[in-house]
Amino acid sequence: MSGAATDRLNLEVTDVVAEARDVVLLELRDPHGHALPPFEPGAHLEIQLGNGLVRHYSLTNDARERERYVVGVGRAVQGRGGSEYVHQQVRRGTRLTVSAPRNHFRLEPSASRSLFIAGGIGITPIASMVQWCDAQQRPWRLVYAARCAQRAAFYESLARHGENVRFHFDDQHGGVLDVAPLLATVEPDEHVYCCGPAPLVAAVKAHAGRIAPQRVHFEYFTAPADAAATPTVGGFTIELRKSARTLVVPPDQSILDVLEANGFALPFSCREGLCRTCETTVCAGEPEHRDYVLSADERRDGKTMMICVSRAASPTLVLDL
Ligand code: FES
Repeated sequence: MSGAATDRLNLEVTDVVAEARDVVLLELRDPHGHALPPFEPGAHLEIQLGNGLVRHYSLTNDARERERYVVGVGRAVQGRGGSEYVHQQVRRGTRLTVSAPRNHFRLEPSASRSLFIAGGIGITPIASMVQWCDAQQRPWRLVYAARCAQRAAFYESLARHGENVRFHFDDQHGGVLDVAPLLATVEPDEHVYCCGPAPLVAAVKAHAGRIAPQRVHFEYFTAPADAAATPTVGGFTIELRKSARTLVVPPDQSILDVLEANGFALPFSCREGLCRTCETTVCAGEPEHRDYVLSADERRDGKTMMICVSRAASPTLVLDL
């Protein structure tokens, strides 16, 4: 199969389906019919779009399938062009370079039951998780919020699960989902998985206080609205161990900005601390983490950081670059 050893796959779009209003599903297969690298529920692909953008889209099909990947893409009207490109340019027969599946939103295999909270296009990884739970005969329930039924991907297939699924459509309820009463019903052995727009994730975080942090899992699609408001107090110095260079990061630039301005061509995608593409090993110094992907343990260890948003809590950081 093409590219497996290098984490890159050249795949063909074999189907494009309009799943709901402003939501398309892309089916991707190896052009020679080979099996694809396996994935776990919650995983995503990094896809290089033909317009030079790199985007991450969650796998939404049954993780037992080895012959295809299916990703869901919601059109972001105020987005930066990735979803618009997919909706307008990607057709059956388009070839796309994608990463092997990566997972930052894992199901806890030991959890005896799961509560899924999905908002809008956030249903895509959860649709795969639900199929895994069914296959493993693990109890689950889903609350799925969308602006209206027409925008709810997988509405018909999910509705067949009866009481396991509760829909909340803003236009029918006169407002957004109130997560507080829902989180009050979480059982002691239940894990909570939330994926959706930043306000939904923030609401779940705000009301999940009584639940142990290791039982609440999040996947962000966009950075929270208050992210840009985090003050940057001052500059700091980065020492690059492999390149034997020292650079200054001023308050108004990220580490990634400074490295690019100094001739480094480093991988990045979201530039918002969401995707892990720019993850860099920290050799010494104390990072000030501002991302949304590292676990509490990884933050505490301080051995890795997202250089697109995170900064330094010590005067100098030594990076493995
Ligand atoms: S580029 Fe996405 S986390 Fe840095």
